[in-house]
Amino acid sequence: MIQPLVDPFQRAISYLRVSVTDRCDFRCVYCMSENMTFLPKKELLSLEELDRLCSAFVRLGVRKLRITGGEPLVRRGIMTFFQTMSRHLDSGALDEMTITTNGSQLEKYADDLYAAGLRRINVSLDTLDEAKFAQITRWGRLPQVLRGLDAAQRAGLKVKLNTVALKGFNEEELFTLTAFCADRGMDLTFIEVMPMGDIGNEDRLSQYWALTDLRARLAERFTVTDLPDRTGGPARYVRLEETGQKIGFITPLTHNFCESCNRVRVTCTGEIYTCLGQEGKSDLRAPLRASESDVQLEEAIRAAIALKPRGHDFDYSRQRPDGQMSRHMSHTGG
Ligand code: GTP
Ligand code: 5AD
Ligand code: SF4
Repeated sequence: MIQPLVDPFQRAISYLRVSVTDRCDFRCVYCMSENMTFLPKKELLSLEELDRLCSAFVRLGVRKLRITGGEPLVRRGIMTFFQTMSRHLDSGALDEMTITTNGSQLEKYADDLYAAGLRRINVSLDTLDEAKFAQITRWGRLPQVLRGLDAAQRAGLKVKLNTVALKGFNEEELFTLTAFCADRGMDLTFIEVMPMGDIGNEDRLSQYWALTDLRARLAERFTVTDLPDRTGGPARYVRLEETGQKIGFITPLTHNFCESCNRVRVTCTGEIYTCLGQEGKSDLRAPLRASESDVQLEEAIRAAIALKPRGHDFDYSRQRPDGQMSRHMSHTGG
């Protein structure tokens, strides 16, 4: 009998998020600085090592696997990884394998992702205005992402948009984004901006748009009903009765969800972070490489989870971003 992974606060760990690259073809202003230094390729886990690592977590009870980045689809050969990992979906060991992507490569890969067993993907998109999109992603171009969304839906993938709520940036687009998703049969989730990586204190505070306010604005035009639905992620969902669509809220600032946290993150170099909002990490690469058996690796995973903290300390209430993390979001993939 394998002991399931349980942390010191009795939370079972069933959701693994793996960042397969720290690189990205965009430079979103709230996520990266313009001149990022990326890891040398030799630091990265190979695709085989990533498979071994993820498979060890599956053996230890992980049921949901999300591949992130940077932008996961810019990692060379990543389709091979999805194809081989799909055996865990076939065997029933995994309930879900999915990705969070900026959408830029979906036109190319949507069919392959579906063939590898992915059924539902999350695409980050903060605006439907081409000029604003270019501004916020610095390097991205909206039409390419829209073509990616089309390709994903054509391939049969269910799409959820992730939109970071940004004051003075996409406030005006609340209803446009909502209508866009209703028309296309996509779910939409809003995220409160978190102080990840230094982009200047002033900027962070002036960006922050509380989802309590966003929800109140939605309620001015729609009947908003709370839903019990959970996807295993941190979002809480509502339904807009007039359109029937589902809207999610990820509210690390206004409503802390750490008590129900079920996830850990592994970076592309094999470091495990047991909380997005804390600096604590442990190395899994050395135990992974130490032997061909997974005994040391499994011990290291258990030891890391035994150190999982209660939660993050993000807080903007003192007019400064408390709980700030030095690392950027792209390091752990959100
Ligand atoms: P679903 O399977 O659709 O529920 O996905 P998800 O919400 O788990 O994954 P996704 O990658 O779409 O996550 C969206 C964003 O939520 C992440 O990029 C993070 O910004 C935020 N998020 C996810 N997990 C946590 C967490 O444990 N703590 C905090 N503070 N934020 C999180
Ligand atoms: N706060 C909240 N969400 C962020 N993301 C990137 N940086 C931040 C931040 N500082 C989002 C992206 C993407 C996901 C991986 O995390 O927009 O949806
Ligand atoms: Fe790239 Fe996503 Fe970060 Fe934007 S938020 S720079 S798309 S990793």
